[in-house]
Amino acid sequence: MTFCEYKPGLEGIPATQSSISYVDGQKGILEYRGINIEELAKSSNFLETSYLLIWGGLPTKDELLDFEHEIRYHRRLKYRIRDMMKCFPESGHPMDALQACAAALGLFYSRRALDDPAYIRAAVVRLLAKIPTMVAAFQLMRKGNDPVQPCDDLDYSANFLYMLNEREPDELAAHIFDVCLTLHAEHTINASTFSAMVTASTLTDPYAVVASAVGTLAGPLHGGANEEVITMLEEIGSVENVRSYLDDCLQRKAKIMGFGHRVYKVKDPRAIILQDLAEQLFEKFGRDDYYDIAVELEHAVEERLGHKGIYPNVDFYSGLVYRKLGIPTDLFTPVFAIARVAGWLAHWKEQLAENRIFRPTQIYTGTRNASYIPIEQRQSTHDRAFLAALIAE
Ligand code: SDX
Repeated sequence: MTFCEYKPGLEGIPATQSSISYVDGQKGILEYRGINIEELAKSSNFLETSYLLIWGGLPTKDELLDFEHEIRYHRRLKYRIRDMMKCFPESGHPMDALQACAAALGLFYSRRALDDPAYIRAAVVRLLAKIPTMVAAFQLMRKGNDPVQPCDDLDYSANFLYMLNEREPDELAAHIFDVCLTLHAEHTINASTFSAMVTASTLTDPYAVVASAVGTLAGPLHGGANEEVITMLEEIGSVENVRSYLDDCLQRKAKIMGFGHRVYKVKDPRAIILQDLAEQLFEKFGRDDYYDIAVELEHAVEERLGHKGIYPNVDFYSGLVYRKLGIPTDLFTPVFAIARVAGWLAHWKEQLAENRIFRPTQIYTGTRNASYIPIEQRQSTHDRAFLAALIAE
């Protein structure tokens, strides 16, 4: 056995071999199955891209029609899932609701046949079809309304906006939302995908795989950053405040949300496209007040942190697009999840094809051969006042 150096966050350590996507972080290149993301954003759509990611090649016309048809057919939720959602607190975060609903699917579809292609197909279809319905249903139910049933006449993205806003979306808005999903569908072995793969490697069911990935995506260092970006722009409040805000963050060593990336050392190619999409929406529906603040922040961060390779990532401009589409801020990360299900499922399938359970090693830093001390002779290692405060909390 060879011993490697310990790298916090496993930086630079390959944890798998994959043919799903490719990132060149120095040149700002992202490809899904070898196809450049700009080309997919321009010419493909989310479901076609999902097919490409999961099955490894672009579908023929008939294959795509069948896939779309199956997904359309499976969009509805079981009434018991909706009943379960009624018990969720309205103040709970939609990512927690989504994680619970994704896991609950495992209760309804409990057969597990990981070596059966029909089972894999059904799980892929169900997850892609039902996750948007869950997100939209939670949004309406927490406002005290009944969820809107999916509309069979609308395609994947238009239907989501329809279920969310209770009206048919503008054509450009639906198209732009679909491009956003394509851009977020996959990104090599990021934290949530790694989480999905570790869970998949135990041969558990795909609903548990997606539920664990949703929980991982929620954190502010990962997908949750898109929500934090809007909170930050709100706090900054005006273009004039940008530089003092940035100075203050840097002094406190606080992270600027929506900036920096483990792999990209240039502006994330997805951020470039998302900024362009935001501008297209502003042209049709009016400018967002936060856009000028965002652009000024990008300039200021580049001046101060560009030498460290810190530039906008995918989460920086996505929120400005979603706001214009009428999506509430705390649904930004669930929307990221709607898209990333495609990538998680592609990695689930790839993992199953050549599975070995993930079981890395550790470098032990604790004591050894310690004696068991009888309870009467022990001294507390905790500050009692601190513990009392914790219990009172
Ligand atoms: C996503 O991995 C993926 O592919 C993820 C993703 C996907 O599609 O799945 O692309 C989606 O998660 C995007 C990232 C969203 N997160 C944020 O926007 C949160 C803010 N950014 C960061 O906290 C940070 O940049 C990370 C978490 C994204 C990356 O963390 P790393 O690689 O562990 O980098 P680090 O925190 O160790 O920082 C390295 C240096 C440090 O400076 P030094 O101590 O070396 O002097 O860069 C600095 C950091 O202080 N730095 C930042 C910064 N990000 C890095 N300084 C200020 N603001 C930042 N945002």
